[in-house]
Parts: sequence; C-alpha cells; structure tokens
Amino acid sequence: MTQNNNQDFDHIPPRASATLESYRGVGYTPETAIADLIDNSIAARARNIWIEFIWRGAGSVVRVLDDGHGMDEANLTEAMRLASRHPLEAREPGDLGRFGLGLKTAALSQGRVLAVSSRTTTEQQAVRCWDLDRVAEVDEWQLLRRAPASIESDATVPAHLASGTAVVIGSLDRLLSSAGEDSVRAQFLAIARRVERHVGMTFHRFLEGPHPKVALFIGTDSFSKISPWDPFLQTHPATIATPVERLPHVAGAVEVQGFVLPHRDRLTTEQFNRAGGPEGWLAHQGFFMYRDQRLLVAGGWLGLGPGRRWARDDIHRLARVKLDLGSSGDNLWKVDIRKSIAVPPPALRPRLQALAEQVRRDAREVFAHRGGRSSRIAAPAPLRAWTAIQGATGPTYRIDRTHPVVRRVLDSAVAGGLLVEDMLHILERTLPVQRIWLETAERDDIAEAAPAPQMTATDQSVLLSIYAHLRIGLGLPAEQARQRLAAVEPFSSYPEAVAQLPDDPVT
Ligand SMILES: Nc1ncnc2c1ncn2[C@@H]1O[C@H](COP(=O)(O)OP(=O)(O)OP(=O)(O)O)[C@@H](O)[C@H]1O
Ligand SMILES: [Mg+2]
Repeated sequence: MTQNNNQDFDHIPPRASATLESYRGVGYTPETAIADLIDNSIAARARNIWIEFIWRGAGSVVRVLDDGHGMDEANLTEAMRLASRHPLEAREPGDLGRFGLGLKTAALSQGRVLAVSSRTTTEQQAVRCWDLDRVAEVDEWQLLRRAPASIESDATVPAHLASGTAVVIGSLDRLLSSAGEDSVRAQFLAIARRVERHVGMTFHRFLEGPHPKVALFIGTDSFSKISPWDPFLQTHPATIATPVERLPHVAGAVEVQGFVLPHRDRLTTEQFNRAGGPEGWLAHQGFFMYRDQRLLVAGGWLGLGPGRRWARDDIHRLARVKLDLGSSGDNLWKVDIRKSIAVPPPALRPRLQALAEQVRRDAREVFAHRGGRSSRIAAPAPLRAWTAIQGATGPTYRIDRTHPVVRRVLDSAVAGGLLVEDMLHILERTLPVQRIWLETAERDDIAEAAPAPQMTATDQSVLLSIYAHLRIGLGLPAEQARQRLAAVEPFSSYPEAVAQLPDDPVT
C-alpha cells in the first residue's frame, strides 16, 4: 500500500477477498436468497420470473431469469459493485431494494460464482461475473467480463425475451452443503420445493387477484406456476377481520389489520394444512410485516406483551396481524440487509400491542370452541357458565349467575340461597387456573378440550330438566324456551338436540 506522508490519513480499502467471504455469512437461507433476487426482478418491472434449479451434480446451478427492463453494460457493471447504492438514498416506488448489496450477498451466500447477463430493448447483452476463487487468488476487486465456460450458456438471456436479466449462481458450495451426503440430488430438489413455498408466501400479494402483477415459475425443463399463499384466508367466510387501521406519525404509510382464522372444524384437512403455511401454524402466528407489499416477517409477536413478551403458542395460532410499511420507513423500522427483520419504533408499540391483544383474545375464543361458533360476528356469543373478568393481576373466572341452570338453583334454594352463593364463591376462588393452564398447554391440540361432539347422558337429562323448568316453572312458550337454551353453554354446541325438544316437556 502506498504511504504518502504529506497526507493526514491512510487510505485503507477493505480487502476484496475477506470482504466477499464475510458477506457470505450474513445469514441467508436458499429461500431468503432467492427472494432477494426476485425483489430485483420485480423492481425491474418483470412480468414473468423463472426460478431454475438445474441439477448437474457438483456443477449444479440455480438461475433466476426475468423479463424485466434489464441493464446495459455500464449499469450491470455498477450493479455488481458491493454497496452499489447508498442506503439513505430515496428509491422509486416499487423498488424493493435498499442497500445495493442483495444481488451479490444473496447469490454468493449460496455459491462461489455469480454470473449475471442482461439485455435491454436497445442494447445488446452484457455479462459480468464474480468468481470468489479468482478474487481469493488476486485479492482484488476483479469483476470478470465473461462467465466460466461451464455456465456460459446459462448466463444468457434467451432470444425470445425482448429484454431481461439472468442471474446464475454456480459452485453451490453452501447450498449443496446444507444437503445431506447420500442423496444430494433429492435434497437439491427438496430445497427447490422449500423455495417454491417461501416465495409463494413472500410475494403472495404480487401473485394473487384477478390481475396479478407478476407470474413466478419454478422448475428445470418444464415449469410450474407458483401459487400465492394468503396467510389470512381472506376469502373464507369464517375468517374474522378487524377494520384496517392507519397508524399515525411515522415515516412511510403504516396500516394494520387483525385477522382471526377459522377454527379447524370449518376447514377441510387440505385447507387446514395449507393454511398452516410453510413453517406451520405455530410459527406463523402474530405479525406479518410487509414492505411495499413484499413480506418481510412471517409471524412472531415482535417482542410485544405486557411485562413478559408473548411467545408463540398453540392457543393463539389463529391470530395473524397484517402490518403494511412503505420503504421510506426502512430506517425507522431497522429493516436489515436480508429484508427479514423489522422492529417497530417505540412510539407505535402501545397501539400495536393493544390491537394484538384484541386479536389474540378473539383467536383464543375461536380456538377453544368448535367450528359451529367460530363466526362470532354472525351469531352472538352464547351465554357461558363461566365468564372471565380482567383484573390488574390477570383474569379471574366467575360463574355467571344468569346462566339458567345456575339461576334456577339460586332461585329455588329459598332458604339456602346464601349457602349456594358461599359455595359458588369458594369454587371460584379456588379454581386451579394455573394447573388447568399447564395441563392444557402440554397437550397438542387444546381443541379436544372443547365440548365433545356428543352430549353425555347427564347433559341430556339436565337439558330436559331445565327445559321443563322454563316451560312449566317460568311459563315460556316452547319456541322461546328452545331459543334460550340454544344460546346457552353447553347446549349451544348441540343445536339439533335443542331443536328436537318436544313442545310438551317430559317431566
Ligand atoms: N434483475 C435485475 N434487473 C434489472 N436490474 C437489476 C436486477 N438485479 C439487480 N439490478 C440492479 O442492480 C442494482 C443492485 O442490486 P442489489 O440487489 O445488489 O441492490 P439493491 O436492490 O439496490 O438493494 P438491496 O441490497 O436492498 O437489494 C439494483 O439497484 C438494480 O439497479
Ligand atoms: Mg436488491
């Protein structure tokens, strides 16, 4: 390095080889790496994007081809520079980039060679290539002007496209090392399937609706079209949505909307499995954060929670919250290089927490009760024997004195009414909430604890007895008595049994 003693500084650019090697480790998976490349294609206004996993043993490559506007030679050369754009620079709407890094860091996280060819409608094709082995050898930022012979034909934009870009990742040391030894090919294809699910989720808002903005394909020789995965089941009638809310005082428009997904009973097995998403029900609860429609974060409670942070658990798995950010808020939300982390600014946390609390509460209700009642908006909530009362130290549970069976005892125990009250009080005071919580939390599917599909004989005799009391004791007309009971737990779970009660009660 030259030293000039007339200057008051030393000029020390980073070492090329070490820098590129370090950037490989920022934590991409094959899925997030491909998603980053797709960001670029979408920003280049591509209408079609093809993701190819081309198996050639150790010479396998992954290629992302698009029909976007492409780059001329000068732009391509600049695009290959590490940190080609300043992160604080304002971007055009629809440009999903931020750091000027993604193309290089995402691709090189998976392989040692990145070759890009690009063609605009007016310029002929240009090719540039990073080869980490070459950079290691010379330890200089030498960007090659052609791709290695083995991938030259991959690094070509096909003639039938008017313009476009092909990004080819070769020498897949990292991608293939995440595959097991014995059947590397099977693992390679399994990674392709994971990528398919991940991008179907990440870009679902670009892929859905009558006029999708873009079409994504995956395959090798023949391609299949990637279908969008809607985390909110917005077209299902039993999905509950809160109104869209605009959050104030933050750079970048921020909108938020809560969803409670339908109870499992309202979905077919296939719908249920699909609605779980690529990582499953437990992982995909909580906030789904989008930046210009592109999904950044696919679940989790963002460190929110009263005192203790909320963890992902089974009983809140139906709660999903959609949070829309604009890219101008990147700095404030601490969006990371991989576009997979964003942190809400402190000023917004209380409101997000309050909204999440509401969605979580509704999700618990739907989760714990069977499908027949999951669309709470359509039918009023049934009268429950137990009600939860929110106190400063958490909820306490009380027996609802207006429940007809309880009311009947209280009314009939003329002399002993107070004794019954004492008894209810003691039961409420000593309800082993902690223990119930622990025991249910250990089970895989708490929904089993919801009412059994069949009434027990005791349920049936209580139903007949209380019906007789309503009809004869209180003189209610048959229809009215049946309606009352249909809206009361646990009979609300058995509408047929209630409907079949004869007009003349059996006494
Ligand atoms: N498929 C593509 N079609 C056209 N231009 C592209 C394509 N991929 C990359 N570019 C150009 O290369 C530049 C660098 O891309 P890169 O992904 O490294 O950074 P970025 O998208 O600007 O920011 P980020 O690091 O946030 O992804 C882009 O700004 C874009 O101009
Ligand atoms: Mg990018």
